[in-house]
Amino acid sequence: MIDKATKAAQGVFTWLDSRLHIAELWEHTAGHHIPKKSASWFYVFGSLTLLCLVIQLITGTLLAFAYVPSGAEAYTTLQYLTFEQPLGWILRGIHYWGSNFMVAIMLIHMTQVYLFGAYKYPRELTWVSGVLLLVITLGLAFTGQVMRFDEDAYWGIGIGAAIAGRSPGIGEQVVQLMLGGPIIGAETLSRFFSLHVFILPGSILAVIALHLRLVLSKGINEYPEPGVLVNRETYDAHYANILKKDGMPFAPYGIWKDLVAGGIVLMAIVVCALVLGPKGPFGPPDPTQIDANPRPDFYFMWIFAIAALMPDYMETVALLIGPPIGIALLIILPFINNTGEKHWSRRPVALLAVVSLVLSLGLLTWYGITSPWSPDMTGWRSAITPKQFLEHRSPLELQGAIVIQQKQCRNCHAIDGIGSQRGPDLAAVGTRLTAPQLTRQVIQGGGNMPAYGKNLTPYEIDAVVAYMVSLRPNGVPPARDSTLPAVPPSTRQAEKNQASAEGQHGKEG
Ligand code: HEC
Repeated sequence: MIDKATKAAQGVFTWLDSRLHIAELWEHTAGHHIPKKSASWFYVFGSLTLLCLVIQLITGTLLAFAYVPSGAEAYTTLQYLTFEQPLGWILRGIHYWGSNFMVAIMLIHMTQVYLFGAYKYPRELTWVSGVLLLVITLGLAFTGQVMRFDEDAYWGIGIGAAIAGRSPGIGEQVVQLMLGGPIIGAETLSRFFSLHVFILPGSILAVIALHLRLVLSKGINEYPEPGVLVNRETYDAHYANILKKDGMPFAPYGIWKDLVAGGIVLMAIVVCALVLGPKGPFGPPDPTQIDANPRPDFYFMWIFAIAALMPDYMETVALLIGPPIGIALLIILPFINNTGEKHWSRRPVALLAVVSLVLSLGLLTWYGITSPWSPDMTGWRSAITPKQFLEHRSPLELQGAIVIQQKQCRNCHAIDGIGSQRGPDLAAVGTRLTAPQLTRQVIQGGGNMPAYGKNLTPYEIDAVVAYMVSLRPNGVPPARDSTLPAVPPSTRQAEKNQASAEGQHGKEG
């Protein structure tokens, strides 16, 4: 009976194998031979990164069932996923922590590969495809933050766009392409969504295929020994020899360490998701929330810290040129340092590079988390408004003074020197800008001022503009658009012309 069953099973297998070549496939993949010593705990991080990716693909696909990538609804669906959908919050938690673990483990994997000299001949392309995987993963991480479409996400894209906008010559076009328009809106989310769920996952799968193909065809790095040098002429024979003398199939002999480590990582991710939960969503995206305390996820914290700590004149260089140079260096590394010693104990420069990189990134990350430079934004609470800026004002203008208070404009703007100095003093702004210009500035922002557009009612805009038009020294007329015909100021016709010419909110002060 049992004999018959095994025979039948064998028959089925033979039938399948003669078509699918399963045995051969196994021999070339899971069953490929590795050096015995390479089945070490140091060598598990590659598989762990892959495991994280698989977790991300599964949880991401499940999240996409409920997520609506529309500017108006993303935030609501996120709330739904977090608070109403059964188990939705765990799914979000696993996806969030999975991404953190993936980036962290990938960095460990790269460090290990670097310290063990695995990028040297003949594994240059394995390393280069790995660098590409790093870039794509960081792209996934960044676009993933945007999917939350909460206030953190909003500020995250804002900072990303501000960095991209510094590209000389093409800055504006790059920002336009990135945001799908001049401001962060519905188009922006659509773009980031298609990057996050189609383009980048597609690319990562393609590059992983290449990476694994290279790992299999060039073999996994032998465990380096001090004094054993890589030589292009002799290495291939040397490696074949190691495999012959001391090789074993990866599965089942080497794979169990990867499986154990994988189990631990999976558990760690689930525990983090259960105990700490997903990140956000924080408040809905609201550019007027300047006291939002936006924080990138940890892997971008160091950029955040650099941007905050660096003197202005160095920012563009550091943010725009630094990362591409870093990536370029990583890519050319295996071509300039291709042979010789592999063991880290004989490569003091490599060791020093890793230690200093880890220390500086770690320190910057720590600074980013604690952000000791965070300004105390209290201008709007403590700055007084001197009485000449309130006397003889119409009710509408007085309402405008209240809008300035409520919307915390004075965290950036002083009035007659009182208040914060991040934007221009507003004491005489009525002599510099016309009502339509003031309206535009408030609605669209610009030059480091947030766009208040949808966050003020038309009435509030009328009021705040009327108030600002009235902000000018005694007897000085309001600003006038010089492209319109001059009319004696006494008739105040100019202002009316201008208002009707430019439309909206052009009421005189
Ligand atoms: C985050 C800081 C910040 C906040 C908050 C802010 N502004 Fe500004 N604002 C600026 C900066 C910076 C500029 C200069 C823009 C430029 O140089 O193009 C500016 C420019 C202006 C100008 C043009 C002034 C001029 O002389 O050119 C007006 C008017 C103005 N802001 C009004 C407001 C009002 C009203 C609010 C509140 C509803 C507000 N701002 C909130 C930073 C801010």
